[in-house]
Amino acid sequence: VSRCRVNGRVADTVVALDRGLNYGDGLFETVRLVGGAPRFWPRHLARLTAGCERLGFACPAATLLEAEVQSVADVTPPDGIVKLVVTRGAGGRGYRPPATAEPTRIVTGHGAPAYDPAWTTGGIALRVCSTHLGRNPRLAGIKHLNRLEQVLARAEWTDDDVAEGLMLDASGLAICGTQSNLFLARDGVLATPRLDQCGVAGVMRGFVLECARSLGLGLEVRDVPLSEVEAAPELFVTNAVVGIWPVSAFAGHRLPVGPIAQRLQAALAAAVP
Ligand SMILES: Cc1ncc(COP(=O)(O)O)c(C=O)c1O
Repeated sequence: VSRCRVNGRVADTVVALDRGLNYGDGLFETVRLVGGAPRFWPRHLARLTAGCERLGFACPAATLLEAEVQSVADVTPPDGIVKLVVTRGAGGRGYRPPATAEPTRIVTGHGAPAYDPAWTTGGIALRVCSTHLGRNPRLAGIKHLNRLEQVLARAEWTDDDVAEGLMLDASGLAICGTQSNLFLARDGVLATPRLDQCGVAGVMRGFVLECARSLGLGLEVRDVPLSEVEAAPELFVTNAVVGIWPVSAFAGHRLPVGPIAQRLQAALAAAVP
């Protein structure tokens, strides 16, 4: 319980009428700790703030959120994870958002992820999921609490040697992994799917895009058909917790860990949180 705070108090329960629970009416951030400090905190805060704006409720004060995240980080392993959930709060009968609601803040601390460290150096196996992502520009990009597409997609496989599943939209465009963003590299040019119809604009994706610009790499944010992913000489996925995972097996063939993923991993290791 000490690693869990609800509205600033040490507690691990929320009220039954909370709209986050009832409707997924809220947002979340999963933050990696590095040396006990929340890595990329300003980026997480910016996405959360944008999400609150999109859903139409006031984001709790940044200073308050930061203090609560740090207080949970202080009792969490220094290489662990802090998850922050902000919901619209409790109230309203039915979907209509109440005119006044006090947002709920939930902060939990967790140990370091149990992923095989060899995945970062040697790459992961990526499969293709049959669960599609629905298009919804009003929800695209933000990290809202409705993650049933990802839950169904992740339930499609139990083989622990497969780290991630690629999700497509209904027209067969590659969008993202179940819990990560996708990048392709070819001839020094990096491409990643646009996320204006579906998908989550990852914090690590944002870092990689900025890094690629400062390294002078070509950069394309655009439609990426599955056939292009299948033919890509270099693939990697990104996530704020795991960083950059090269893809070493996809759709029945093996890929080498590519030089661009390695350059970006080096830049991430050197990055100031
Ligand atoms: C659906 C989805 N897309 C992308 C990401 C990657 O986002 P971030 O880099 O902020 O971790 C996540 C992270 O959990 C996710 O759940």
